[in-house]
Amino acid sequence: MECGRKRRAEGGEIDPSSLCPPPPFPSPACELLDNRLRIQYDSPSFAPKQVIFVAGSNMLAILLARTGHFVYNDRFGDFGMSDFVKDLASSLQQQIDAYKPQIAAQEVGHVLETGDGIARAAGLSNVKAQELVRFDNGVMGVAFNLEKDSVGIITLGDPSGIEEGMLVRGTGRIASVPVGDALIGRVVNALGEAVDGRGPIVTDKTRPIERIAPGVVERKDVKRPLQTGIKPIDSMIPIGRGQRELIIGDRQTGKTALAIDTIINQKGKDCICIYVAIGQKKAQVARVLGILEQAGAMEYTTIVVASADDPAAMQYIAPYSGSAIGEEFMETGRDALIVFDDLSKHAWAYRQVSLLLRRPPGREAYPGDVFYLHSRLLERAAQLSDERGGGSLTALPIIETLLGDVSAYVPTNVISITDGQIYLEADLFYSGIRPAVNVGISVSRVGGDAQTKAMRQVAGQLKGDMAAFRELAAFATFGSDLDKATQRQLDRGYRLTEILKQPQYEPVSLENQVMVMYAGTRGFTDTIPVDKMKAWEAAFIRFMETSHSEVAQEIVEKKAITPENEPRLKEAISQFNSGWQG
Ligand SMILES: Nc1ncnc2c1ncn2[C@@H]1O[C@H](COP(=O)(O)OP(=O)(O)OP(=O)(O)O)[C@@H](O)[C@H]1O
Ligand SMILES: [Mg+2]
Repeated sequence: MECGRKRRAEGGEIDPSSLCPPPPFPSPACELLDNRLRIQYDSPSFAPKQVIFVAGSNMLAILLARTGHFVYNDRFGDFGMSDFVKDLASSLQQQIDAYKPQIAAQEVGHVLETGDGIARAAGLSNVKAQELVRFDNGVMGVAFNLEKDSVGIITLGDPSGIEEGMLVRGTGRIASVPVGDALIGRVVNALGEAVDGRGPIVTDKTRPIERIAPGVVERKDVKRPLQTGIKPIDSMIPIGRGQRELIIGDRQTGKTALAIDTIINQKGKDCICIYVAIGQKKAQVARVLGILEQAGAMEYTTIVVASADDPAAMQYIAPYSGSAIGEEFMETGRDALIVFDDLSKHAWAYRQVSLLLRRPPGREAYPGDVFYLHSRLLERAAQLSDERGGGSLTALPIIETLLGDVSAYVPTNVISITDGQIYLEADLFYSGIRPAVNVGISVSRVGGDAQTKAMRQVAGQLKGDMAAFRELAAFATFGSDLDKATQRQLDRGYRLTEILKQPQYEPVSLENQVMVMYAGTRGFTDTIPVDKMKAWEAAFIRFMETSHSEVAQEIVEKKAITPENEPRLKEAISQFNSGWQG
Protein backbone atom coordinates (compact mmCIF):
# COMPACT_ATOMS: atom_id res chain seq x y z
CA MET A 1 0.00 0.00 0.00
CA GLU A 2 2.63 2.39 1.16
CA CYS A 3 4.81 1.42 -1.71
CA GLY A 4 2.29 2.52 -4.36
CA ARG A 5 1.75 5.86 -2.78
CA LYS A 6 5.39 6.50 -2.39
CA ARG A 7 6.27 5.63 -5.89
CA ARG A 8 3.58 7.84 -7.32
CA ALA A 9 4.74 10.74 -5.19
CA GLU A 10 8.12 10.28 -6.69
CA GLY A 11 6.48 10.50 -10.06
CA GLY A 12 8.09 7.39 -11.39
CA GLU A 13 6.66 4.40 -13.22
CA ILE A 14 4.72 1.97 -11.05
CA ASP A 15 6.22 -1.42 -10.76
CA PRO A 16 3.40 -3.90 -10.30
CA SER A 17 5.60 -6.28 -8.43
CA SER A 18 6.26 -3.62 -5.82
CA LEU A 19 2.54 -3.33 -4.97
CA CYS A 20 1.13 -5.43 -2.21
CA PRO A 21 -1.90 -7.45 -3.22
CA PRO A 22 -5.09 -6.68 -1.28
CA PRO A 23 -4.91 -8.75 1.87
CA PRO A 24 -8.21 -10.74 1.95
CA PHE A 25 -8.26 -11.59 -1.74
CA PRO A 26 -6.53 -14.32 -3.60
CA SER A 27 -3.44 -13.48 -5.45
CA PRO A 28 -4.24 -11.54 -8.60
CA ALA A 29 -2.64 -11.35 -11.99
CA CYS A 30 -1.24 -7.89 -12.46
CA GLU A 31 -0.40 -5.90 -15.51
CA LEU A 32 0.44 -2.32 -16.12
CA LEU A 33 -1.52 -0.48 -18.76
CA ASP A 34 -0.50 3.07 -19.58
CA ASN A 35 0.12 4.43 -16.15
CA ARG A 36 -2.64 2.30 -14.61
CA LEU A 37 -2.39 -0.86 -12.72
CA ARG A 38 -4.77 -3.60 -13.67
CA ILE A 39 -5.18 -6.55 -11.37
CA GLN A 40 -7.25 -9.44 -12.56
CA TYR A 41 -8.82 -11.76 -9.97
CA ASP A 42 -9.73 -15.27 -10.97
CA SER A 43 -11.80 -16.24 -7.99
CA PRO A 44 -15.49 -16.26 -8.85
CA SER A 45 -16.39 -15.50 -5.23
CA PHE A 46 -14.79 -12.11 -5.56
CA ALA A 47 -17.22 -9.84 -7.40
CA PRO A 48 -15.02 -7.08 -8.78
CA LYS A 49 -13.50 -8.06 -12.07
CA GLN A 50 -10.54 -5.79 -11.79
CA VAL A 51 -8.72 -3.74 -9.29
CA ILE A 52 -7.57 -0.54 -10.75
CA PHE A 53 -5.22 1.91 -9.34
CA VAL A 54 -6.34 5.43 -9.99
CA ALA A 55 -3.98 8.21 -9.30
CA GLY A 56 -5.51 11.31 -7.78
CA SER A 57 -8.79 11.49 -9.64
CA ASN A 58 -11.85 10.71 -7.57
CA MET A 59 -14.06 11.18 -10.58
CA LEU A 60 -12.32 8.51 -12.55
CA ALA A 61 -12.35 6.26 -9.53
CA ILE A 62 -16.09 6.63 -9.26
CA LEU A 63 -16.59 6.00 -12.93
CA LEU A 64 -14.60 2.84 -12.74
CA ALA A 65 -16.25 1.75 -9.55
CA ARG A 66 -19.67 1.98 -11.07
CA THR A 67 -18.79 -0.62 -13.64
CA GLY A 68 -17.82 -3.06 -10.93
CA HIS A 69 -14.11 -2.40 -10.94
CA PHE A 70 -12.35 -2.52 -7.70
CA VAL A 71 -10.61 0.74 -7.19
CA TYR A 72 -7.54 1.67 -5.37
CA ASN A 73 -7.09 5.37 -4.91
CA ASP A 74 -4.87 7.33 -2.60
CA ARG A 75 -7.81 9.35 -1.24
CA PHE A 76 -9.61 6.19 -0.15
CA GLY A 77 -6.46 5.08 1.43
CA ASP A 78 -6.60 1.34 0.88
CA PHE A 79 -7.89 -1.38 -1.33
CA GLY A 80 -11.61 -1.43 -1.24
CA MET A 81 -14.45 0.93 -1.91
CA SER A 82 -15.56 3.42 0.70
CA ASP A 83 -19.28 3.27 1.59
CA PHE A 84 -19.81 6.48 -0.28
CA VAL A 85 -18.39 5.05 -3.45
CA LYS A 86 -20.26 1.80 -2.96
CA ASP A 87 -23.58 3.64 -2.77
CA LEU A 88 -22.70 5.77 -5.68
CA ALA A 89 -21.51 2.82 -7.63
CA SER A 90 -24.67 0.84 -7.11
CA SER A 91 -26.97 3.71 -7.99
CA LEU A 92 -24.91 4.54 -11.03
CA GLN A 93 -24.91 0.90 -12.01
CA GLN A 94 -28.70 0.83 -11.80
CA GLN A 95 -28.96 3.86 -13.97
CA ILE A 96 -26.60 2.44 -16.49
CA ASP A 97 -28.52 -0.83 -16.62
CA ALA A 98 -31.77 1.07 -17.14
CA TYR A 99 -30.32 3.29 -19.84
CA LYS A 100 -31.45 2.32 -23.32
CA PRO A 101 -29.77 4.43 -25.92
CA GLN A 102 -32.29 5.67 -28.49
CA ILE A 103 -30.33 5.93 -31.58
CA ALA A 104 -32.12 6.95 -34.76
CA ALA A 105 -30.58 7.46 -38.11
CA GLN A 106 -31.39 10.88 -39.44
CA GLU A 107 -30.93 12.03 -42.93
CA VAL A 108 -29.28 15.39 -43.24
CA GLY A 109 -29.37 17.43 -46.39
CA HIS A 110 -28.07 20.85 -47.25
CA VAL A 111 -29.61 23.84 -48.93
CA LEU A 112 -28.50 24.34 -52.52
CA GLU A 113 -30.38 27.54 -53.21
CA THR A 114 -33.03 29.62 -51.50
CA GLY A 115 -35.18 32.66 -52.12
CA ASP A 116 -38.83 33.84 -52.37
CA GLY A 117 -39.92 31.50 -49.62
CA ILE A 118 -38.69 28.33 -51.28
CA ALA A 119 -35.48 26.33 -50.92
CA ARG A 120 -33.90 23.51 -52.85
CA ALA A 121 -31.96 20.94 -50.85
CA ALA A 122 -29.75 18.02 -51.75
CA GLY A 123 -29.15 14.89 -49.71
CA LEU A 124 -32.71 14.23 -48.55
CA SER A 125 -33.25 11.20 -50.74
CA ASN A 126 -35.65 9.46 -48.32
CA VAL A 127 -37.89 12.40 -47.58
CA LYS A 128 -41.55 11.90 -48.51
CA ALA A 129 -43.88 14.24 -50.38
CA GLN A 130 -45.51 16.75 -48.01
CA GLU A 131 -43.13 15.72 -45.19
CA LEU A 132 -42.16 18.40 -42.69
CA VAL A 133 -38.49 19.32 -42.76
CA ARG A 134 -36.55 21.45 -40.30
CA PHE A 135 -33.83 23.88 -41.29
CA ASP A 136 -30.87 24.30 -38.96
CA ASN A 137 -32.16 27.67 -37.72
CA GLY A 138 -35.43 26.05 -36.56
CA VAL A 139 -37.63 27.20 -39.46
CA MET A 140 -39.95 24.48 -40.73
CA GLY A 141 -40.69 23.66 -44.34
CA VAL A 142 -42.68 21.20 -46.41
CA ALA A 143 -41.05 18.92 -48.98
CA PHE A 144 -43.10 19.90 -51.98
CA ASN A 145 -41.24 18.79 -55.09
CA LEU A 146 -39.34 15.52 -55.07
CA GLU A 147 -36.85 15.60 -57.89
CA LYS A 148 -34.06 13.31 -59.00
CA ASP A 149 -31.19 15.07 -57.26
CA SER A 150 -32.89 17.56 -55.00
CA VAL A 151 -36.02 18.37 -53.03
CA GLY A 152 -38.02 21.57 -53.49
CA ILE A 153 -39.09 22.88 -50.09
CA ILE A 154 -41.63 25.58 -49.27
CA THR A 155 -40.84 27.37 -46.02
CA LEU A 156 -43.45 27.78 -43.33
CA GLY A 157 -41.65 30.48 -41.36
CA ASP A 158 -39.46 33.48 -42.01
CA PRO A 159 -37.30 32.45 -44.99
CA SER A 160 -34.77 35.27 -44.57
CA GLY A 161 -32.55 33.26 -42.19
CA ILE A 162 -32.15 30.32 -44.56
CA GLU A 163 -28.84 30.29 -46.37
CA GLU A 164 -27.07 28.26 -48.96
CA GLY A 165 -25.26 25.33 -47.34
CA MET A 166 -27.49 25.30 -44.26
CA LEU A 167 -28.35 21.86 -42.96
CA VAL A 168 -31.90 20.59 -43.32
CA ARG A 169 -33.39 17.44 -41.80
CA GLY A 170 -36.45 15.38 -42.56
CA THR A 171 -38.76 14.95 -39.55
CA GLY A 172 -40.47 11.83 -40.86
CA ARG A 173 -43.94 13.25 -40.22
CA ILE A 174 -46.56 15.05 -42.20
CA ALA A 175 -47.54 18.49 -40.91
CA SER A 176 -50.17 18.21 -38.19
CA VAL A 177 -52.22 20.58 -36.05
CA PRO A 178 -53.61 20.39 -32.53
CA VAL A 179 -57.31 19.55 -32.52
CA GLY A 180 -60.14 19.24 -30.04
CA ASP A 181 -62.24 21.47 -27.81
CA ALA A 182 -59.19 23.51 -26.77
CA LEU A 183 -59.34 25.13 -30.20
CA ILE A 184 -62.84 26.52 -29.71
CA GLY A 185 -62.85 30.27 -29.25
CA ARG A 186 -59.24 30.60 -30.40
CA VAL A 187 -57.46 32.23 -33.31
CA VAL A 188 -54.64 30.08 -34.67
CA ASN A 189 -52.24 30.14 -37.60
CA ALA A 190 -51.97 27.45 -40.26
CA LEU A 191 -49.82 25.30 -37.95
CA GLY A 192 -52.40 25.48 -35.17
CA GLU A 193 -50.30 27.85 -33.03
CA ALA A 194 -52.26 30.45 -31.09
CA VAL A 195 -52.00 33.97 -32.50
CA ASP A 196 -54.60 35.61 -30.27
CA GLY A 197 -52.21 36.36 -27.41
CA ARG A 198 -54.13 34.11 -25.03
CA GLY A 199 -51.39 31.58 -24.43
CA PRO A 200 -50.63 28.28 -26.11
CA ILE A 201 -53.29 25.76 -27.11
CA VAL A 202 -53.36 23.05 -24.45
CA THR A 203 -54.38 19.76 -26.01
CA ASP A 204 -52.70 16.41 -26.44
CA LYS A 205 -54.56 15.54 -29.62
CA THR A 206 -53.17 16.29 -33.06
CA ARG A 207 -54.21 15.37 -36.58
CA PRO A 208 -52.26 15.40 -39.83
CA ILE A 209 -53.44 18.27 -41.98
CA GLU A 210 -53.77 16.07 -45.05
CA ARG A 211 -56.02 13.06 -44.91
CA ILE A 212 -57.89 10.78 -47.26
CA ALA A 213 -61.56 11.77 -47.29
CA PRO A 214 -64.13 9.32 -45.86
CA GLY A 215 -65.15 6.66 -48.41
CA VAL A 216 -68.60 6.06 -49.85
CA VAL A 217 -69.66 3.43 -47.33
CA GLU A 218 -68.64 5.65 -44.46
CA ARG A 219 -71.15 8.30 -45.51
CA LYS A 220 -74.88 8.68 -45.56
CA ASP A 221 -77.36 11.04 -47.19
CA VAL A 222 -77.42 14.67 -46.26
CA LYS A 223 -80.71 14.81 -44.35
CA ARG A 224 -80.44 17.44 -41.65
CA PRO A 225 -80.69 21.17 -42.38
CA LEU A 226 -78.00 23.70 -41.66
CA GLN A 227 -79.95 26.89 -41.09
CA THR A 228 -78.03 29.90 -42.39
CA GLY A 229 -80.59 32.39 -41.11
CA ILE A 230 -80.44 34.06 -44.53
CA LYS A 231 -83.88 34.11 -46.11
CA PRO A 232 -83.10 33.55 -49.82
CA ILE A 233 -80.71 30.71 -48.94
CA ASP A 234 -82.80 28.84 -46.38
CA SER A 235 -85.88 29.07 -48.57
CA MET A 236 -84.57 28.51 -52.08
CA ILE A 237 -80.99 27.21 -51.85
CA PRO A 238 -81.19 25.14 -48.66
CA ILE A 239 -77.99 23.71 -47.25
CA GLY A 240 -77.80 20.39 -45.40
CA ARG A 241 -75.27 19.29 -42.80
CA GLY A 242 -72.38 17.63 -44.60
CA GLN A 243 -72.96 19.52 -47.84
CA ARG A 244 -70.41 21.58 -49.78
CA GLU A 245 -71.97 24.79 -51.02
CA LEU A 246 -69.92 27.33 -52.92
CA ILE A 247 -70.37 31.07 -52.36
CA ILE A 248 -69.21 32.79 -55.53
CA GLY A 249 -69.19 36.39 -56.65
CA ASP A 250 -67.12 39.44 -57.52
CA ARG A 251 -65.22 41.36 -54.89
CA GLN A 252 -67.28 43.31 -52.37
CA THR A 253 -70.55 41.58 -53.07
CA GLY A 254 -71.14 40.31 -49.55
CA LYS A 255 -69.54 36.86 -49.74
CA THR A 256 -67.87 37.09 -46.35
CA ALA A 257 -71.05 38.60 -44.90
CA LEU A 258 -73.05 35.49 -45.91
CA ALA A 259 -70.55 33.20 -44.25
CA ILE A 260 -70.32 35.28 -41.08
CA ASP A 261 -74.10 35.48 -40.78
CA THR A 262 -74.27 31.73 -41.14
CA ILE A 263 -71.75 31.30 -38.33
CA ILE A 264 -73.67 33.76 -36.12
CA ASN A 265 -76.85 31.80 -36.78
CA GLN A 266 -75.33 28.55 -35.45
CA LYS A 267 -75.64 29.81 -31.89
CA GLY A 268 -77.39 27.16 -29.84
CA LYS A 269 -77.65 24.82 -32.84
CA ASP A 270 -74.90 22.36 -31.87
CA CYS A 271 -72.65 23.20 -34.75
CA ILE A 272 -69.02 24.16 -34.19
CA CYS A 273 -67.70 26.64 -36.75
CA ILE A 274 -64.26 27.09 -38.26
CA TYR A 275 -63.52 30.22 -40.25
CA VAL A 276 -60.38 29.91 -42.38
CA ALA A 277 -59.11 33.28 -43.59
CA ILE A 278 -56.69 32.87 -46.50
CA GLY A 279 -54.71 35.76 -47.98
CA GLN A 280 -56.80 38.46 -46.31
CA LYS A 281 -55.56 41.60 -44.63
CA LYS A 282 -55.00 41.14 -40.89
CA ALA A 283 -57.29 44.12 -40.22
CA GLN A 284 -60.13 42.37 -42.06
CA VAL A 285 -59.63 39.22 -39.98
CA ALA A 286 -59.59 41.31 -36.81
CA ARG A 287 -62.88 42.87 -37.93
CA VAL A 288 -64.45 39.44 -38.43
CA LEU A 289 -63.18 38.37 -35.00
CA GLY A 290 -64.71 41.50 -33.46
CA ILE A 291 -68.07 40.83 -35.12
CA LEU A 292 -68.12 37.20 -34.00
CA GLU A 293 -67.15 38.15 -30.46
CA GLN A 294 -69.84 40.77 -30.31
CA ALA A 295 -72.43 38.28 -31.52
CA GLY A 296 -71.26 35.73 -28.95
CA ALA A 297 -70.27 33.41 -31.77
CA MET A 298 -66.65 32.88 -30.69
CA GLU A 299 -68.00 30.53 -28.01
CA TYR A 300 -68.28 27.86 -30.68
CA THR A 301 -65.91 29.14 -33.36
CA THR A 302 -62.24 28.73 -34.28
CA ILE A 303 -60.51 31.12 -36.66
CA VAL A 304 -57.56 29.86 -38.71
CA VAL A 305 -55.58 32.72 -40.23
CA ALA A 306 -53.00 32.74 -42.99
CA SER A 307 -53.05 36.40 -43.89
CA ALA A 308 -51.74 38.13 -47.01
CA ASP A 309 -48.35 38.81 -45.43
CA ASP A 310 -47.82 35.23 -44.27
CA PRO A 311 -45.62 32.98 -46.43
CA ALA A 312 -47.45 31.49 -49.41
CA ALA A 313 -46.84 28.05 -47.92
CA MET A 314 -48.89 28.96 -44.83
CA GLN A 315 -51.72 30.17 -47.07
CA TYR A 316 -51.48 26.93 -48.99
CA ILE A 317 -51.82 24.66 -45.94
CA ALA A 318 -54.33 26.77 -43.97
CA PRO A 319 -57.54 25.20 -45.40
CA TYR A 320 -56.17 21.70 -44.81
CA SER A 321 -55.36 22.63 -41.20
CA GLY A 322 -58.87 24.00 -40.78
CA SER A 323 -60.31 20.77 -42.20
CA ALA A 324 -58.27 18.70 -39.75
CA ILE A 325 -59.69 20.76 -36.88
CA GLY A 326 -63.22 20.29 -38.26
CA GLU A 327 -62.73 16.57 -38.84
CA GLU A 328 -62.00 16.01 -35.16
CA PHE A 329 -65.49 17.31 -34.34
CA MET A 330 -67.06 15.33 -37.18
CA GLU A 331 -65.36 12.11 -36.13
CA THR A 332 -66.47 12.53 -32.55
CA GLY A 333 -70.08 12.53 -33.71
CA ARG A 334 -70.61 16.28 -33.72
CA ASP A 335 -71.55 18.74 -36.44
CA ALA A 336 -69.12 21.32 -37.73
CA LEU A 337 -69.17 24.03 -40.36
CA ILE A 338 -66.06 25.23 -42.14
CA VAL A 339 -65.77 28.40 -44.22
CA PHE A 340 -62.83 28.84 -46.62
CA ASP A 341 -62.51 32.57 -47.28
CA ASP A 342 -61.36 32.35 -49.97
CA LEU A 343 -60.15 29.56 -52.23
CA SER A 344 -59.20 31.94 -55.07
CA LYS A 345 -56.41 33.32 -52.93
CA HIS A 346 -55.57 29.76 -51.90
CA ALA A 347 -55.13 28.85 -55.56
CA TRP A 348 -52.96 31.95 -56.10
CA ALA A 349 -50.69 30.96 -53.21
CA TYR A 350 -50.43 27.46 -54.65
CA ARG A 351 -49.67 28.85 -58.11
CA GLN A 352 -46.98 31.08 -56.63
CA VAL A 353 -45.08 28.29 -54.88
CA SER A 354 -45.56 25.98 -57.85
CA LEU A 355 -44.12 28.46 -60.32
CA LEU A 356 -41.20 29.27 -58.03
CA LEU A 357 -40.44 25.56 -57.85
CA ARG A 358 -40.66 25.45 -61.65
CA ARG A 359 -43.65 23.17 -61.91
CA PRO A 360 -44.91 23.35 -65.47
CA PRO A 361 -47.65 25.98 -65.70
CA GLY A 362 -50.92 25.08 -67.38
CA ARG A 363 -54.11 27.02 -68.02
CA GLU A 364 -53.96 30.52 -66.43
CA ALA A 365 -50.45 29.52 -65.26
CA TYR A 366 -51.89 27.23 -62.57
CA PRO A 367 -50.10 23.89 -62.21
CA GLY A 368 -51.88 20.86 -63.62
CA ASP A 369 -53.09 19.59 -60.25
CA VAL A 370 -54.99 22.69 -59.15
CA PHE A 371 -58.24 20.74 -59.49
CA TYR A 372 -56.92 18.08 -57.14
CA LEU A 373 -55.83 20.85 -54.77
CA HIS A 374 -59.45 21.75 -54.10
CA SER A 375 -61.15 18.41 -54.69
CA ARG A 376 -59.10 16.63 -52.03
CA LEU A 377 -59.92 19.47 -49.66
CA LEU A 378 -63.66 19.63 -50.25
CA GLU A 379 -64.12 15.85 -50.36
CA ARG A 380 -63.31 15.87 -46.66
CA ALA A 381 -66.64 17.54 -45.92
CA ALA A 382 -69.11 14.74 -45.26
CA GLN A 383 -72.12 13.44 -43.39
CA LEU A 384 -70.75 10.32 -41.72
CA SER A 385 -72.79 7.14 -41.45
CA ASP A 386 -74.30 6.05 -38.14
CA GLU A 387 -71.55 3.41 -37.75
CA ARG A 388 -68.99 6.20 -37.91
CA GLY A 389 -70.82 8.27 -35.33
CA GLY A 390 -73.10 10.30 -37.60
CA GLY A 391 -71.11 13.54 -37.33
CA SER A 392 -70.87 15.99 -40.19
CA LEU A 393 -68.61 18.62 -41.68
CA THR A 394 -70.31 21.20 -43.87
CA ALA A 395 -68.07 23.27 -46.13
CA LEU A 396 -68.77 26.75 -47.45
CA PRO A 397 -65.89 27.56 -49.81
CA ILE A 398 -65.79 31.10 -51.19
CA ILE A 399 -64.53 31.97 -54.66
CA GLU A 400 -63.95 35.46 -55.96
CA THR A 401 -64.68 36.04 -59.63
CA LEU A 402 -63.44 38.82 -61.88
CA LEU A 403 -66.27 40.74 -63.56
CA GLY A 404 -68.64 37.86 -62.95
CA ASP A 405 -66.56 35.44 -65.01
CA VAL A 406 -67.56 32.08 -63.58
CA SER A 407 -66.00 30.23 -66.52
CA ALA A 408 -62.45 31.00 -65.38
CA TYR A 409 -60.34 28.01 -64.46
CA VAL A 410 -60.57 27.93 -60.66
CA PRO A 411 -64.27 28.93 -60.45
CA THR A 412 -65.31 26.18 -62.89
CA ASN A 413 -63.23 23.65 -61.00
CA VAL A 414 -64.75 24.48 -57.65
CA ILE A 415 -68.27 24.68 -59.12
CA SER A 416 -67.84 21.12 -60.38
CA ILE A 417 -66.55 19.87 -57.04
CA THR A 418 -69.27 21.35 -54.83
CA ASP A 419 -72.92 20.34 -54.34
CA GLY A 420 -74.22 23.69 -55.51
CA GLN A 421 -73.44 27.36 -55.62
CA ILE A 422 -74.78 30.65 -54.32
CA TYR A 423 -74.14 33.36 -56.91
CA LEU A 424 -73.75 36.87 -55.65
CA GLU A 425 -74.04 39.61 -58.27
CA ALA A 426 -72.52 43.04 -58.17
CA ASP A 427 -75.49 44.52 -60.11
CA LEU A 428 -77.95 43.25 -57.54
CA PHE A 429 -75.71 44.40 -54.72
CA TYR A 430 -75.50 47.95 -56.06
CA SER A 431 -79.21 48.10 -56.82
CA GLY A 432 -79.81 47.52 -53.12
CA ILE A 433 -80.77 43.85 -53.18
CA ARG A 434 -78.72 42.56 -50.28
CA PRO A 435 -77.84 39.74 -49.84
CA ALA A 436 -77.18 40.01 -53.58
CA VAL A 437 -78.09 36.38 -54.26
CA ASN A 438 -79.12 35.64 -57.83
CA VAL A 439 -81.67 32.94 -56.99
CA GLY A 440 -82.23 32.22 -60.70
CA ILE A 441 -78.83 30.67 -61.24
CA SER A 442 -78.00 29.60 -57.69
CA VAL A 443 -78.61 25.97 -56.86
CA SER A 444 -78.35 23.49 -54.03
CA ARG A 445 -78.19 19.91 -55.30
CA VAL A 446 -78.56 17.99 -52.06
CA GLY A 447 -79.99 20.38 -49.50
CA GLY A 448 -83.64 20.03 -50.60
CA ASP A 449 -84.04 16.76 -48.71
CA ALA A 450 -82.70 18.42 -45.62
CA GLN A 451 -85.09 21.34 -45.69
CA THR A 452 -87.54 21.56 -42.81
CA LYS A 453 -91.09 20.75 -43.94
CA ALA A 454 -92.46 24.13 -42.85
CA MET A 455 -89.91 25.89 -45.00
CA ARG A 456 -90.58 23.57 -47.94
CA GLN A 457 -94.27 24.38 -47.69
CA VAL A 458 -93.72 28.12 -48.12
CA ALA A 459 -90.62 27.95 -50.33
CA GLY A 460 -92.28 25.89 -53.07
CA GLN A 461 -94.60 28.74 -53.91
CA LEU A 462 -91.91 31.35 -53.30
CA LYS A 463 -89.68 29.77 -55.94
CA GLY A 464 -92.49 29.72 -58.49
CA ASP A 465 -93.53 33.30 -57.77
CA MET A 466 -89.96 34.56 -58.02
CA ALA A 467 -89.25 32.70 -61.26
CA ALA A 468 -92.42 34.18 -62.84
CA PHE A 469 -91.48 37.60 -61.52
CA ARG A 470 -87.99 37.51 -63.02
CA GLU A 471 -89.42 36.62 -66.40
CA LEU A 472 -92.02 39.38 -66.34
CA ALA A 473 -89.80 42.04 -64.77
CA ALA A 474 -87.63 42.07 -67.89
CA PHE A 475 -90.67 43.02 -70.03
CA ALA A 476 -92.12 45.39 -67.49
CA THR A 477 -89.13 47.69 -67.83
CA PHE A 478 -90.38 48.62 -71.34
CA GLY A 479 -93.39 50.24 -69.71
CA SER A 480 -95.98 48.56 -71.90
CA ASP A 481 -99.57 48.12 -70.73
CA LEU A 482 -99.90 45.01 -68.67
CA ASP A 483 -102.96 42.92 -68.03
CA LYS A 484 -104.18 42.54 -64.47
CA ALA A 485 -102.82 39.06 -63.87
CA THR A 486 -99.36 40.08 -65.02
CA GLN A 487 -99.45 43.21 -62.91
CA ARG A 488 -100.43 41.09 -59.90
CA GLN A 489 -97.52 38.76 -60.47
CA LEU A 490 -95.19 41.73 -60.69
CA ASP A 491 -96.56 43.33 -57.53
CA ARG A 492 -96.16 40.07 -55.67
CA GLY A 493 -92.60 39.77 -56.96
CA TYR A 494 -91.59 43.27 -55.83
CA ARG A 495 -92.88 42.56 -52.34
CA LEU A 496 -91.22 39.16 -52.12
CA THR A 497 -87.97 40.73 -53.27
CA GLU A 498 -88.27 43.12 -50.34
CA ILE A 499 -88.98 40.25 -47.96
CA LEU A 500 -85.84 38.45 -49.15
CA LYS A 501 -83.64 41.46 -48.38
CA GLN A 502 -81.90 41.31 -45.07
CA PRO A 503 -79.40 43.46 -43.21
CA GLN A 504 -75.99 42.12 -42.26
CA TYR A 505 -75.39 40.28 -38.96
CA GLU A 506 -79.10 39.73 -38.39
CA PRO A 507 -79.87 36.13 -39.23
CA VAL A 508 -83.56 35.30 -39.03
CA SER A 509 -84.90 32.29 -37.16
CA LEU A 510 -86.67 29.54 -39.11
CA GLU A 511 -90.10 30.23 -37.62
CA ASN A 512 -89.92 33.96 -38.39
CA GLN A 513 -88.80 33.23 -41.95
CA VAL A 514 -91.69 30.83 -42.40
CA MET A 515 -94.30 33.24 -41.06
CA VAL A 516 -93.11 36.20 -43.14
CA MET A 517 -92.82 34.15 -46.33
CA TYR A 518 -96.20 32.61 -45.69
CA ALA A 519 -97.71 36.08 -45.53
CA GLY A 520 -95.84 37.16 -48.68
CA THR A 521 -96.64 34.13 -50.84
CA ARG A 522 -100.30 33.83 -49.71
CA GLY A 523 -101.03 37.41 -50.77
CA PHE A 524 -101.31 39.03 -47.35
CA THR A 525 -98.76 41.69 -48.28
CA ASP A 526 -100.03 42.50 -51.78
CA THR A 527 -101.59 45.75 -50.61
CA ILE A 528 -98.64 46.93 -48.55
CA PRO A 529 -96.63 49.68 -50.33
CA VAL A 530 -93.34 48.24 -51.59
CA ASP A 531 -91.22 50.86 -49.84
CA LYS A 532 -92.97 50.05 -46.53
CA MET A 533 -92.39 46.29 -46.77
CA LYS A 534 -89.31 46.25 -44.49
CA ALA A 535 -91.14 48.26 -41.83
CA TRP A 536 -94.16 45.96 -42.17
CA GLU A 537 -91.96 42.91 -41.73
CA ALA A 538 -90.23 44.21 -38.61
CA ALA A 539 -93.53 45.24 -37.03
CA PHE A 540 -95.17 41.94 -37.95
CA ILE A 541 -92.41 39.88 -36.33
CA ARG A 542 -92.61 42.02 -33.22
CA PHE A 543 -96.37 41.52 -33.14
CA MET A 544 -96.09 37.76 -33.53
CA GLU A 545 -93.47 37.55 -30.79
CA THR A 546 -95.45 39.59 -28.32
CA SER A 547 -99.06 38.70 -29.07
CA HIS A 548 -99.00 35.29 -30.76
CA SER A 549 -95.82 33.58 -29.64
CA GLU A 550 -97.68 30.24 -29.58
CA VAL A 551 -97.89 30.19 -33.40
CA ALA A 552 -94.11 30.36 -33.81
CA GLN A 553 -93.67 27.82 -31.04
CA GLU A 554 -95.97 25.38 -32.78
CA ILE A 555 -94.08 25.76 -36.05
CA VAL A 556 -90.85 24.99 -34.20
CA GLU A 557 -92.36 21.93 -32.52
CA LYS A 558 -94.21 20.48 -35.49
CA LYS A 559 -91.59 21.67 -38.00
CA ALA A 560 -94.51 22.14 -40.39
CA ILE A 561 -97.53 24.24 -41.17
CA THR A 562 -100.38 21.96 -40.12
CA PRO A 563 -104.15 22.21 -40.53
CA GLU A 564 -104.20 23.15 -36.84
CA ASN A 565 -101.72 26.00 -36.82
CA GLU A 566 -102.38 27.38 -40.30
CA PRO A 567 -105.74 29.04 -39.42
CA ARG A 568 -104.16 30.57 -36.34
CA LEU A 569 -101.33 31.98 -38.43
CA LYS A 570 -103.76 33.37 -41.01
CA GLU A 571 -105.88 34.89 -38.31
CA ALA A 572 -102.86 36.54 -36.65
CA ILE A 573 -101.67 38.02 -39.98
CA SER A 574 -105.13 39.45 -40.73
CA GLN A 575 -105.37 40.85 -37.24
CA PHE A 576 -101.99 42.54 -37.61
CA ASN A 577 -102.70 43.90 -41.08
CA SER A 578 -105.99 45.45 -40.00
CA GLY A 579 -104.25 47.36 -37.24
CA TRP A 580 -101.08 48.30 -39.12
CA GLN A 581 -100.77 51.95 -39.96
CA GLY A 582 -97.60 51.85 -42.08
N1 LIG B 1 -76.79 42.12 -46.38
C1 LIG B 1 -76.06 43.22 -46.40
N2 LIG B 1 -76.62 44.40 -46.14
C2 LIG B 1 -75.91 45.52 -46.14
N3 LIG B 1 -74.62 45.58 -46.39
C3 LIG B 1 -73.98 44.47 -46.66
C4 LIG B 1 -74.67 43.22 -46.69
N4 LIG B 1 -73.79 42.26 -46.96
C5 LIG B 1 -72.61 42.88 -47.11
N5 LIG B 1 -72.70 44.19 -46.94
C6 LIG B 1 -71.61 45.17 -47.04
O1 LIG B 1 -70.96 45.01 -48.25
C7 LIG B 1 -69.56 45.18 -48.13
C8 LIG B 1 -68.86 43.98 -48.69
O2 LIG B 1 -69.19 42.85 -47.92
P1 LIG B 1 -68.18 41.65 -47.74
O3 LIG B 1 -66.90 42.11 -47.17
O4 LIG B 1 -68.92 40.60 -47.05
O5 LIG B 1 -67.98 41.28 -49.27
P2 LIG B 1 -66.92 40.29 -49.90
O6 LIG B 1 -67.52 39.81 -51.16
O7 LIG B 1 -66.52 39.30 -48.92
O8 LIG B 1 -65.75 41.28 -50.21
P3 LIG B 1 -64.24 40.87 -50.57
O9 LIG B 1 -64.26 40.49 -52.00
O10 LIG B 1 -63.50 42.13 -50.32
O11 LIG B 1 -63.87 39.77 -49.66
C9 LIG B 1 -69.29 45.37 -46.67
O12 LIG B 1 -69.06 46.73 -46.42
C10 LIG B 1 -70.55 44.91 -46.00
O13 LIG B 1 -70.80 45.64 -44.84
MG1 LIG C 1 -64.66 38.76 -48.18
